[in-house]
Amino acid sequence: MKGNQEELTMMHQKYLAKGFASTRSCYVKKALGSLVWDINDKEYLDFAGGIAVMNVGHSHPTVVAAVKAQAEKFMHTCFMVLPYESPVLLAKKLCQGMAGTCEKKVMFANSGAEAVENAVKIARTYTRKTGIIAFEGGFHGRTLMGMSLTSKVKPYKLGFGPFAPEVYRIPYAYCYRCPFGKSYPDCNVRCADHLEEVLISHVAPENCAALIIEPIAGEGGYIVPPLEYFPKLAAICERHGILLIADEIQTGMGRTGTLFAMEHWGVEPDLTTTAKSLAAGLPLSGVVGRAAIMDSVHPGGIGGTYGANPLACEAGLAVFEVIEQENLLERGVALGEKLHAGLKALEQEFSLIGDVRGVGPLAALELVKDRGSKTPAPQETIAITDHCFDQGLILLACGTYGNVLRFMMPLITTDPQLEKGLAILKNAFISVGKR
Ligand SMILES: Cc1ncc(COP(=O)(O)O)c(C=O)c1O
Repeated sequence: MKGNQEELTMMHQKYLAKGFASTRSCYVKKALGSLVWDINDKEYLDFAGGIAVMNVGHSHPTVVAAVKAQAEKFMHTCFMVLPYESPVLLAKKLCQGMAGTCEKKVMFANSGAEAVENAVKIARTYTRKTGIIAFEGGFHGRTLMGMSLTSKVKPYKLGFGPFAPEVYRIPYAYCYRCPFGKSYPDCNVRCADHLEEVLISHVAPENCAALIIEPIAGEGGYIVPPLEYFPKLAAICERHGILLIADEIQTGMGRTGTLFAMEHWGVEPDLTTTAKSLAAGLPLSGVVGRAAIMDSVHPGGIGGTYGANPLACEAGLAVFEVIEQENLLERGVALGEKLHAGLKALEQEFSLIGDVRGVGPLAALELVKDRGSKTPAPQETIAITDHCFDQGLILLACGTYGNVLRFMMPLITTDPQLEKGLAILKNAFISVGKR
């Protein structure tokens, strides 16, 4: 190590911009599987996975070996100048791994936000229309288009306007806080039908290129729409010639027990964005979509200097290998069942928990001051994540009101590790003092 905690903290404050903030003050020395160690040798159980990036676990040996081997061969030629095999093989894996029957193609970029930017460019080129419908609670990144599509103002948009035009925002299927004041299933999924009204009152179908939506709203609070929601939305989109873009940057690569979350709703989006766990920590993102749509862009119109970086693509191929060889999708489902049971048990004990939700190993607790009023409890949420951190459990909050605890642990997390994490969490609830 080149610095101790104190020196690093001082340099951090002096040289790194305040806006480029870290939530925790420790410095990581090592991470392996579901565990992380800081430079003071404190061990943490990681239930955040670098924000849903480490589905195969930290420094998985297969990924490390693939990256090392590639580093010794070459690290960059620029795929747009001199191509190499890994992006071709990875594109095939993505096309074949994604559910659905239509022929697909892929383009690669680096960050999730870039994938979103490219999906919008592709949708606009194909449809020759400009309008994009996005959702309340949606998060799509920090670039101009990404933050324009993003809903939450603080910290993502505050002071950064003007935003990209032609973005129309509509409510999400947030059943716990129904924007239409209804209850499922009596509502008949009214929120999906609302799209038809938006196409009359906000943007004409003739001007609307695409609708971009997270299958499960991630930063928005791990909100899971009902089963009828996406088939209904997809049908309306199809009727009006509007492309359906699924932003699976957080929900993809096994996070919900299937390779991509849209499988749970049986809907085949026109375009899907992927990133995060795609390359187990190396910067890699992509757009996967119907071949005819993907091919509508002229050569050179999409891409970039580092898109399909060889180290990242080798890591991506290794991720697919690990998922297949270690049956990580099945394992994720089993992990999710245990996690859900543990969270349900906490719900019985602590009235601070207003809602337990999730799909497979993607899970969340929404915290409220009391179950009747559903008043969000953000301070208690922070107190719980702080307590967990002190006790060696890394847990992140999310949600429009900052009152949702989300679970994004590596899918290789063992049963004893899960139990240990849940025990720390239970103690955190006790420490906050609301039974
Ligand atoms: C659904 C979704 N879209 C886009 C992004 C942006 O990805 P990145 O931070 O890699 O730009 C994120 C990141 O959290 C995300 O969860």
